[in-house]
Amino acid sequence: LVLFVPDDAAAVSVGADRVAAALAVAAEERGLDLRLVRNGSRGMLWLEPLVEWDGPDGRMAFGPVAPDEAGSLLDAISSGTGHPRALGPTEEIDYLKNQERLTFARVGVIDPLSVRDFEAHGGLEGLKTALTMTEEAICEAVLQSGLRGRGGAGFPAGIKWHTVREQAQAEKYICCNADEGDSGTFADRMLMEGDPFTLLEGMVIAGFATGARQGIVYIRSEYPHAISKMTRAIEALEEAGWLGGNIRGSGKDFRVSIRRGAGAYICGEESSMLNSIEGRRGTVRSKPPIPAIHGLFGKPTVVNNVLTLATVPVVLAKGAEFYKDFGMGRSRGTQAFQLAGNIRRGGLVEKAFGVTIRELIETFGGGTATGRPFRTAQLGGPLGAYVSEEMLDLPMDYEALAEHKAMLGHGGITVFDETVDMAEMARFAFEFCEEESCGKCTPCRIGAVRGRETVEKILRGENVARNIALIEDLCELMTDGSLCAMGGLTPMPVLSAILLFPEDFDRASALAA
Ligand code: NAI
Ligand code: SF4
Repeated sequence: LVLFVPDDAAAVSVGADRVAAALAVAAEERGLDLRLVRNGSRGMLWLEPLVEWDGPDGRMAFGPVAPDEAGSLLDAISSGTGHPRALGPTEEIDYLKNQERLTFARVGVIDPLSVRDFEAHGGLEGLKTALTMTEEAICEAVLQSGLRGRGGAGFPAGIKWHTVREQAQAEKYICCNADEGDSGTFADRMLMEGDPFTLLEGMVIAGFATGARQGIVYIRSEYPHAISKMTRAIEALEEAGWLGGNIRGSGKDFRVSIRRGAGAYICGEESSMLNSIEGRRGTVRSKPPIPAIHGLFGKPTVVNNVLTLATVPVVLAKGAEFYKDFGMGRSRGTQAFQLAGNIRRGGLVEKAFGVTIRELIETFGGGTATGRPFRTAQLGGPLGAYVSEEMLDLPMDYEALAEHKAMLGHGGITVFDETVDMAEMARFAFEFCEEESCGKCTPCRIGAVRGRETVEKILRGENVARNIALIEDLCELMTDGSLCAMGGLTPMPVLSAILLFPEDFDRASALAA
């Protein structure tokens, strides 16, 4: 009897470890020979802990399962009878069936720490292909696939790799940014916990493509499960000969180590992250020079997000054209959308670019969890814009969203119902910036404080029109004068709240009434 119970942090937080332990005890009591696989999460978070049975008709899902249901679940499986938690074949659940999983193809499917399982499900094919290619050809394949940086900025990965490849220095680095700090996002974590070898495979390919022999994964300390999984995955891949010196007799070396962040949001900004890895305070460096030329310890460095690197194996395994076939406009391939906040079915949805916001929130997410009318969603994390009901039919595409002063960022979507106070959200945006600013430049360090104070005046109904004009002026200064996206993008949530929901800022008339 083979059962899968995720050990993904989200599943564990709602009792997956207790369910796994209860299943082991119940199996022993019944004399059943149970093999329990701790897989990653399928990303249907409202169904966690999701137990899967690998039966004669494939994987069957049950969820959410409570520890005291372990016995009845085993009895139902053994006797072939129904169970109140039965959901049918896992892959047939609409939420999963209607996705296009390329980067997350193996997450939740395989045993994350079994190299054999990984290989049996198509793992290492990209790396094997890369071993037959020149550095230039690998960079070109990544460029032709249209893969853009999944951390949020969407810069073409192939151009970045070409830039690093063209640098003459012998010492180069591949730095994976796993400091996933955006509120409401969890795709990097899910990938590292559910299919860590894919990320490592992508890093080795990046090394082969650019001439770097050393990789570093910078993981935030809030992700202890991911740190542990990645550490064990590095050991397993080294043991299998796919990581380390003279990889599979190719004469090429690539080693990976892990650095733990210490909790600062700004260390997700690439140059702060490099400072942090070097043992310095995590403040932003002036650009230029860009890290691709002058990065870690002054050497050419590829800095890519987890999902960018983890997508490279499928690009090489199936070809640039295959990947490019997904998506729209200049947004090629798929994006891992993360549904969070006030939403009925929160979780991970990997879909080709072009899917509308409405499809994600309504068809996949099922609307608000409270059942109250939808009011807004914030796209792209705490620095992203809010969107209104009228904007829900916009496609998820970097350019289409930019035209409407919104952004896709790292793919986070945080939903709010009609009870949200948008003036309060504008205050929060400034407060977040005030809290997380590295302090290096004035528009952000001082602007965030003055911005929060000014919104507080509006909340008290003081000179509302004048103070809104002041905020708009301040936002222009922060956008144009900040050194990095922290101060530069904070105006996005603030201005979208003022533009789309002006009634929430009209505190004077609200107070008078
Ligand atoms: P950016 O536009 O300055 O740079 C994007 C990337 O392209 C950087 O790695 C940069 O070094 C590289 N680059 C630029 N020109 C290049 C060239 N000619 N050759 C090679 N490489 C080049 O954007 P930045 O500041 O790196 O990122 C901002 C984004 O980060 C925001 O849009 C936001 O969505 C996202 N973000 C993501 C968070 C997360 O948790 N994932 C948290 C906060 C922000
Ligand atoms: Fe630091 Fe803010 Fe300036 Fe970025 S914008 S460098 S976080 S002070």
